[in-house]
Amino acid sequence: PSPSVEVDVLVVGSGPAGAASALFLASYGTGVLVVTRYSRLSDTPRAHITNQRTMEALRDMGVEDTLLALATPWELMGNTTFCTSLVGEELGRIPSWGTDTVRHADYELASPCTMLDAPQTITEPVLVKAAQDRGAKVRFDTEYLRHVQDDDGVTTTLRDRLTGVEYAVRSRYLIGADGARSRVAADLELPFEGPGAVGGAMSIVFEADLTHLVAHRPSVLYWMVQPGAEKEGVGLGVLRMIKPWTEWMLMWGYEVAAGPPEFTDAAVRELAVALVGTEDFEMTVKSASPWTVNHHFATTIARGRVFCAGDAVHRHPPTNGLGSNTSIQDAYNLAWKIAAVVAGTAAPSLLDSYDAERAPIARQVVERANQSIADTGRILTALDLTDTTDVAALERQLALRKAPGPEGEKVRAALREAIAYKAHEFDAHGVEHNQRYASGAVVPDGTPMPGYRRDPELYAQPTTWPGAKLPHTWVTRTGHRVSTLDLVGHGAFSVVTGVGGEDWLAAARAAGEELGLTLTEVPIGPGLPYDDPYGTWAELREIGDAGVLLVRPDCYVAARHASAPASAEQAHAWLRDSLRSVLGR
Ligand code: FDA
Repeated sequence: PSPSVEVDVLVVGSGPAGAASALFLASYGTGVLVVTRYSRLSDTPRAHITNQRTMEALRDMGVEDTLLALATPWELMGNTTFCTSLVGEELGRIPSWGTDTVRHADYELASPCTMLDAPQTITEPVLVKAAQDRGAKVRFDTEYLRHVQDDDGVTTTLRDRLTGVEYAVRSRYLIGADGARSRVAADLELPFEGPGAVGGAMSIVFEADLTHLVAHRPSVLYWMVQPGAEKEGVGLGVLRMIKPWTEWMLMWGYEVAAGPPEFTDAAVRELAVALVGTEDFEMTVKSASPWTVNHHFATTIARGRVFCAGDAVHRHPPTNGLGSNTSIQDAYNLAWKIAAVVAGTAAPSLLDSYDAERAPIARQVVERANQSIADTGRILTALDLTDTTDVAALERQLALRKAPGPEGEKVRAALREAIAYKAHEFDAHGVEHNQRYASGAVVPDGTPMPGYRRDPELYAQPTTWPGAKLPHTWVTRTGHRVSTLDLVGHGAFSVVTGVGGEDWLAAARAAGEELGLTLTEVPIGPGLPYDDPYGTWAELREIGDAGVLLVRPDCYVAARHASAPASAEQAHAWLRDSLRSVLGR
């Protein structure tokens, strides 16, 4: 077919990665067309935990409130429960997702945003509608078939699934956000590492009012220790809240080699009854689908003008809730770069930083999510079991947990420890916030990355070290509280300085004019447009009053100068050179 449609960026897929790419690009004013295979957005809930870092990106786009209004709020997310069934014995709980009193402070200190629970049935429409409102075009029933790229662009062949007609789209860039079975990634021959499919799981979504069994211990996840529960799947049987407390997703494993089970009404009911622990409830099944527990990540995530994002390049189980979060954050990293190159303010070499910055994250999240399944095994170990197939042994060990004396005491202590260890899945705040980038889009300042004072997976550690996210804290504008993150982003580079930093602001105007950019000026301090009355910014910024941070549109620190410039000329030269270095100009 001959090229018939032209667009700046073609996005394949309307899941979290594709929808977010469209939203970010459209918000930055870049022309974007999204094509997606089916006639609708996700009809199953799928990924749901939405972390603060994702919400920060959506806050930057002005859609945080829309999602908040539809999602299950933070305070209902926290009592992750390990039990034999909802009706049965509780083995323990772990406060999760920052809802623990002590951990809550860490979360509040790290971000202006909350955690929330929003399945893809909620998130995707919010992202896609906002993208459309800003000019993105979306074509349903449209399948990606293949692409070829040349020096000037990409020609992609699509098939309209309603008419069967094939046509071509010519774009400057192509984003493959086409999920775990990505054709785009396959066509690019991206190299993958990891064992691949490591297990099978099924998700059964059903309506049932279980309020009386859960409302007193509100949580998004209830984990069941039952015979066979640790086989394949996600470590144990799971009941996951979709709508409090009337819609649920049941997760249970199956052996991949044996193929997915048949979802007969009787089989589905039997599983639900086992996990709830009683026959005494009515249910309406909405969907049942098998999926693969993957351990697979691409070590290169882009080639030339084609970029892959989301599950296309990181395939892992839902443990840690990193699926859609990482997908949206991939898009946040990529979109401003493509927008800058399309606008002509950056050289194409800026795009190389996408692979350099996000491929390590793909590896990290896949390893983390799979490790969490293994860590759940500690609960069985605590019960002195290697598996649950011997029902008598399981019952004996569960009884021992309640027995007086040293043997029981040992089991109780071991269980408490095993459950507390699951903070690495349910409170891995560091995994969510401590992503540090090293690439051509970051200018090192010669200092080593600050060492982590606490477990880097559990605890977020803010720093202004180039390559880290700008720390959040509350400052003020005309007395009103705003986050430092609210002062940057919105598609622009920002220059953050303080009292005595006028030369940096003048340099921002001059260098901006030279490079065709408008830099956002963020002077914070007494007598300046923003103030730091709590003194927390001064504690976090790691630079002097008259030092400067150059912050990228994705709120990452691109460059840092700790002290006042030697002169106005030096400020200008430093800022211009830093920007040139990041933008490849
Ligand atoms: P995603 O798979 O969401 O989207 C891919 C898009 O590409 C779709 O719009 C699809 O139609 C489109 N597409 C594919 N091929 C195409 C083609 N050739 N042409 C055109 N369009 C094409 N994660 C989590 O964190 N917690 C959870 O509880 C779950 N639960 C869960 C349950 C089930 C059943 C599944 C299948 C997956 C999960 N996940 C999950 C994983 C989570 O859904 C996943 O990480 C994100 O959806 C990834 O988002 P992407 O946008 O990358 O892909």
